Amino acid sequence: MFLVIDKEKTHMRLIFIGPPGAGKGTQAAFVSQRLHIPKISTGEMLRMAVKLRPTLAVEIKAIMDSGGLVSDDTIMYLVSQRLLDEDCEHGYLFDGFPRTVVQAVALRQQNIGVDYVVELDVPSEEIVSRMEGRLTHPKSGRVYHALYNPPRVAGQDDLTGETLVSREDDCRETVLKRLEIYYDQTSPLINFYKAWEVSGIDSPPRYRKINATGSVEDIRQRIFSALSLLS
Ligand code: AP5
Repeated sequence: MFLVIDKEKTHMRLIFIGPPGAGKGTQAAFVSQRLHIPKISTGEMLRMAVKLRPTLAVEIKAIMDSGGLVSDDTIMYLVSQRLLDEDCEHGYLFDGFPRTVVQAVALRQQNIGVDYVVELDVPSEEIVSRMEGRLTHPKSGRVYHALYNPPRVAGQDDLTGETLVSREDDCRETVLKRLEIYYDQTSPLINFYKAWEVSGIDSPPRYRKINATGSVEDIRQRIFSALSLLS
């Protein structure tokens, strides 16, 4: 049985870390809904910026399409602005942020609190097939998979009926580059957070590693259990 979450008392601050296609967005949607906290996806924020201001965001689009990382300064600016919004008062879930040690250090230095760091662990072999079948609803960021997590009506978003699209950075070559960058620049964050937890200094977040292979539902249960959201 699930615990009933009291919206007023919820104050959970979370980071989801994992390779591209690990299911961060899919699972973050469940957790943010359960805890009534906003999901803050830097990837979605960047895609929205590119869509709204194509002439200003040419450079950002080029970096994303190539599978590279956008500058730490740009990301920290976007996140710090987003955290000023009222809906972040009772917590937040960072999906795909921080992504470099520089971003993680900045987060800590700015005293932006985090209660849990959740690592979604998926072997690289599985990532490519997940990405090749991914379908996205651009306005909401909802994600589906043609085989593993299909929409109710093929090619259409379940809630709005609008057309689903494939992301430009989901082609095999770019996915392989994103994976390489993940292991090079983002996975060091795992040791960063483990070491911080062991130190016990400055209210460290608790680190939880989740086996993120298997069904979407099973993984959701593992995450809820790790965050003590099950009674
Ligand atoms: P971003 O949008 O964050 O992409 P990502 O981290 O690479 O992660 P994805 O969104 O690709 O995957 P996901 O883990 O959310 O998986 P999903 O749930 O969709 O970033 C895009 C770009 O923006 C970056 O490359 C970079 O350029 C830039 N950027 C963003 N943040 C940045 C930062 N902080 N610093 C610098 N640059 C930044 O699932 C994937 C697919 O698998 C879906 O089709 C889903 O339906 C399916 N699926 C989910 N669970 C399962 C399952 N259990 N079994 C089978 N299929 C599943």
